[in-house]
Amino acid sequence: MASLDGKVGIGFRMEHARELLERKPECVDWLEIHPENYMHRGGVYPANLKQALRHWPVVTHGLTMGMAAEQPHDVAYLHTLKSLLSDVETPWHSDHLCFASDMGMYAHDLLPMPFNEESLKTVVQRMTEVRDRIDTPIAFENISYYIESPESTLGEPEFIVEALEATDGLLLLDVNNVYVNSKNLGFDPKAWIDLIPADRVIQIHVAGHLIRKDGFRIDTHGEPVCDDVYELLEYTLEHTGPKPVLLERDGNYPPLDALLQELELLKAIVERTKKSSSDATLPGVGVRPESLHQG
Ligand SMILES: [Fe+2]
Repeated sequence: MASLDGKVGIGFRMEHARELLERKPECVDWLEIHPENYMHRGGVYPANLKQALRHWPVVTHGLTMGMAAEQPHDVAYLHTLKSLLSDVETPWHSDHLCFASDMGMYAHDLLPMPFNEESLKTVVQRMTEVRDRIDTPIAFENISYYIESPESTLGEPEFIVEALEATDGLLLLDVNNVYVNSKNLGFDPKAWIDLIPADRVIQIHVAGHLIRKDGFRIDTHGEPVCDDVYELLEYTLEHTGPKPVLLERDGNYPPLDALLQELELLKAIVERTKKSSSDATLPGVGVRPESLHQG
């Protein structure tokens, strides 16, 4: 599969699947799916996916693994997951840096864990086991959360950097989650981004969130992307260089054309930051010494 760096994608959801497959909009470069929607399932879901695969690269993003859960992995889930990832030929697979299950039960929510050494050991063990079982590069995603654990001994970005190093892992960087947390918990989102090593970022998520009357932000994926998140995306891409960028929408679905307009805005930002990073290699603009000796 050709590199998806600098390409924009959209979540492949049932609400727009048929229209996407019929129109095949040019601005959609790739799709993301949740494997859980396709496991042990017949009918329209696998039929749509088969059709989508003929036209687009598809990347997988899981919902239930939770890279910080302490309970053992569900081996049957991983077995089925491996088979699906292979069918889809996803270049990497991601799930969330959180725990979503305990004592055999699933919370159906992404629950934050304390950022400390104990959690780090759990993440390393879990990531290593997943990687061995699914035989695909694995990334974790930073989540939105609404309270900070009193048991944390590290900040979130410091924890992420340590986890990436310890697991030799990859990060799905959700820019909206960083922004929502920064507003609710009170920190500078750009300083957060600055701490993340660019070469570990494999993919970027962008989404919309809800602002309550009291100003608190809820990560709904059910609103248009706000201007501040577009701006933080631009800042992030200046930091990381071109990456695959995905627009997430998981509720309160507008007509497909409204999402495609958002995708066009994302594409404009991606192209602008691509241009500014290539301009930075021109003499007199911000010379990278090694680039002077090429061709
Ligand atoms: Fe996300």
